[in-house]
Amino acid sequence: MINAKMPKIWYGGDYNPDQWEKSIWDEDLRMFKLAGIDVATLNVFAWAKNQPDEDTYNFDWLDEMMDKLHEGGVGVCLATSTAAHPAWMARKYPDVLQVDFNGNKRKFGGRHNSCPNSPTYRKYAARMAEKLAERYKDHPALLIWHINNEYGGAGNCYCDNCEAAFREWLRARYGTLEELNRAWNTSFWGHTFYDWEEIVLPSGQSEEWEGMNGRQATNFQGISLDYTRFHSDSLLECYKLEYEAVKKHTPDIPVTTNLMGAFKKLDYHKWAKHMDVVSWDNYPRFDTPHSYTGMMHDLMRGLKDGQPFMLMEQTPSQQNWQPYNSLKRPGVMRLWSYQAVARGADTIMFFQLRRSIGACEKYHGAVIEHVGHEHTRVFRECAQLGAELGKLGDSLLDSRVQSKVAILFDWENWWAVEMSSGPSVALKYVDEAHKFYDALYRLGIGADVVSVEADLSGYDLVIAPVMYMVKQGVANKLEQYVGAGGTLITTFFSGIVDENDLVKTGGYPGELRKLLGIWAEEIDALLPSQRNRIVVRDIASGLKPEYECGMLCDLIHSEGAEVKAVYGDDFYRGMPALTVNKFGEGEAWYLATSPEASFLQDWLSQLCASRGIKPLVPSVPEGVETTLRTKDGQDYLFVLNHNADAVTVELGDRAGVELLNDRQLNGGKAELAGHDVWIIKLNK
Ligand code: GLA
Ligand code: ZN
Repeated sequence: MINAKMPKIWYGGDYNPDQWEKSIWDEDLRMFKLAGIDVATLNVFAWAKNQPDEDTYNFDWLDEMMDKLHEGGVGVCLATSTAAHPAWMARKYPDVLQVDFNGNKRKFGGRHNSCPNSPTYRKYAARMAEKLAERYKDHPALLIWHINNEYGGAGNCYCDNCEAAFREWLRARYGTLEELNRAWNTSFWGHTFYDWEEIVLPSGQSEEWEGMNGRQATNFQGISLDYTRFHSDSLLECYKLEYEAVKKHTPDIPVTTNLMGAFKKLDYHKWAKHMDVVSWDNYPRFDTPHSYTGMMHDLMRGLKDGQPFMLMEQTPSQQNWQPYNSLKRPGVMRLWSYQAVARGADTIMFFQLRRSIGACEKYHGAVIEHVGHEHTRVFRECAQLGAELGKLGDSLLDSRVQSKVAILFDWENWWAVEMSSGPSVALKYVDEAHKFYDALYRLGIGADVVSVEADLSGYDLVIAPVMYMVKQGVANKLEQYVGAGGTLITTFFSGIVDENDLVKTGGYPGELRKLLGIWAEEIDALLPSQRNRIVVRDIASGLKPEYECGMLCDLIHSEGAEVKAVYGDDFYRGMPALTVNKFGEGEAWYLATSPEASFLQDWLSQLCASRGIKPLVPSVPEGVETTLRTKDGQDYLFVLNHNADAVTVELGDRAGVELLNDRQLNGGKAELAGHDVWIIKLNK
């Protein structure tokens, strides 16, 4: 648990005193106290201040600020300041500057602007991290390290250093050119490589272009997949250099870097192995479905085996970088903060504590707004939440969310699905996963979102949406899971390729064919305006007689699986659309098409009920979210009302003390105000 040194839900956020006159610092401290703020993330973008030239380091401001915060009872999440290199470095050592997708060498500017394979960048970033660790290793305010900031936040680099590093990375992966040529299927379009030096990065100058629907289009999926892996690894190497530099001096201080939810470019499952605690930045839009935000929290929680995570950033009120930067309505910041806690966060932190006056983030919300005093709606709401978190103390810390359902999520599969040329540009991996998640969410059933490497034995139901890429060992693992009594669901466009995006010949869904008891002969892609129908065979199953479906339709044959529903239209009318195969003690379902939302809800509701997977409370009104966190045998039930109006919640036999208002709830029906939250410590 990270919060040991300050055992409560940490409350605070990014604080940039280095961008202000000192005269304001004491006023900030006064306001932090009023708001119940006890952690400040310092030094995120201060590299140029800390190191004015190659040989000079100056941490006077940071020394003073660390002391001041400590005296004021505020702990520090200390960033390493390496997310934007200084201008002098770019001028003196142009290797730190990136080359963009079209081959243009960039100049100084922006942030996250360094080439990850620049020897200069790596050397000076690691040196900075080490200097900070040496200097502050015994500082009583230091709670946690925040390496860099939102890795991957800018474009990829295509410079000569990256190209050389890519060749090395490939040598390590494939050993020989023969193996590489096989993995990339280079006999296609005469691409055979006879020398490692012939290999170039896939970019706008070689294999790639910007495809339809914002997709990364490529001639060679194998090459582009490896470059994507390589790029994720290159940034991870940068992170690891800093990680090791700070660990050398502060082995007991936890280390994190702030992630971004379903951020496509970095394989966070791989990254999380090198992080002591996961932290992430949550910026939903006004119209982001609450279930989508819920899924992002669960994805982040799943990165480290369900361990609590940090909510590193959210805005107290509005963003500046979305097209329409709506205010969070009264109560919504509090509600969304508790949504994070409900799903495993042990910190609530903001970007930013004081609103800046210049450049592109001056219209980004902050705890302290431009007016400079505490008499604002936003400040009052922040202070209310601060007081509540103070009251909650350590009760929820390190408690776990337990789910009976898992959704498998895999970054490499995501890349491969969306790099694929055909069958449809409409297919979006995260959206397909979210459809399942959303259906469960509406049923009030929680799901973990986990990697294909996770231990599945504790789950009654495992859903693998669009498992296009089946990595080595995964088919076997799923067979064991189902064989031992588990229920697996997978969908259309699954079991097609291996890790190199090479098709498994002999019939789709490849290695999953035996487990699913089907053969997919063809895959039809429907136009956005086209629909087919799922016609249910067994009406007694609780499903409606038929549902709409679209996007992709696999044309499948049963090879032992029971056909539960068939297509209603087109030349494949009557062919299976939904099948279930008994395998060992369990069942493996195949949904051959992308259905309308109500199908998933009806179907999953039946499936869950028949497996004893129940909602946390007997019934949830639309827009009400429920989760359970458990610690030492004590359950805490969260009920969140995303509606602006009050709702009646049927709690059934769930009774206990509601911690935010200190009142007894006796189960049965109870009214929950608009945007309000209950955290009920359930009677044992
Ligand atoms: C990101 C960054 C912050 C800030 C916010 C603004 O999350 O990490 O530095 O730019 O966005 O929303
Ligand atoms: Zn580069």
